[in-house]
Amino acid sequence: MPVLMCRPDYFSVDYEINDWMSRENQPSKILSMIPWWRLFGIYNTFGYNVRLIEEVEGLPDMVFTANAGLVYKNKFIPSNFYHAERRGEREHFKNFFQESGYEIVNLPPDVFFEGQGDALWISENKLLLGYGRRTSEAVIEHLKAIMPDCEIIPIKMVHEPTAEKPKEFYHLDTVLCHLPMTNTFLVYPGALSPEAMETIRSLGETIEAAYPEAEKLICNSVAIGKYILMPIGETSRFVELLNERGYKVFLIEMSEFLKAGGAVRCLSFFY
Ligand code: ARG
Repeated sequence: MPVLMCRPDYFSVDYEINDWMSRENQPSKILSMIPWWRLFGIYNTFGYNVRLIEEVEGLPDMVFTANAGLVYKNKFIPSNFYHAERRGEREHFKNFFQESGYEIVNLPPDVFFEGQGDALWISENKLLLGYGRRTSEAVIEHLKAIMPDCEIIPIKMVHEPTAEKPKEFYHLDTVLCHLPMTNTFLVYPGALSPEAMETIRSLGETIEAAYPEAEKLICNSVAIGKYILMPIGETSRFVELLNERGYKVFLIEMSEFLKAGGAVRCLSFFY
């Protein structure tokens, strides 16, 4: 199975498009490279075919390949980024998939879509689609037309900032992670509408994060069978709950990527 990654050669915080980003708080090159290579090594160890796309100078968020788009069979649907700052990434990801033999299927330019940041497969033909922040609700109908044999489950994201919970969770993968082995969801309910939470609870078991856990992007984890790759942060409660369910958690240092609002899952595009 392939996973696309992008080495953080030009990774920095050049603009502020989410509440984790501050130009005053720049990531260290070495402290981002070391965990990035660790993740690369882990995927290789598990037998993934790790493909690389070169980072382009001036596109510091390209490292977050999860936002490249969405792959469905031999089709690649490129993202239409919400923020102008990230729109330059589109042609690079599009060219990569075109050169890899995929058919490119474009969404209309006025419809925002941020790829696997908001589109999470929970089985071969079931897709959760987070909308309301970076991805437009209108994407749902377009994806249904492109993937007629798939069930698309809309998940509305909401945000009510308070002094204690100031950060807006802007991609579904910042608040939701599916663990196929036990059909469990790691989820932060505060970022989802009550109906969306009801949907998630009807789909499987949930392990629900509190704000301080969610803020460290605990849900931006990756499950590989019984192994979970989880960003270091407020993790002890989750590790215990996951151990009880037969999982083994690898904690990965993500402090520098957190400065851009991303973590393990954001750095990985599975297809
Ligand atoms: N700085 C990036 C942005 O705000 C972070 C993207 C994180 N990616 C993700 N899949 N959640 O767009």
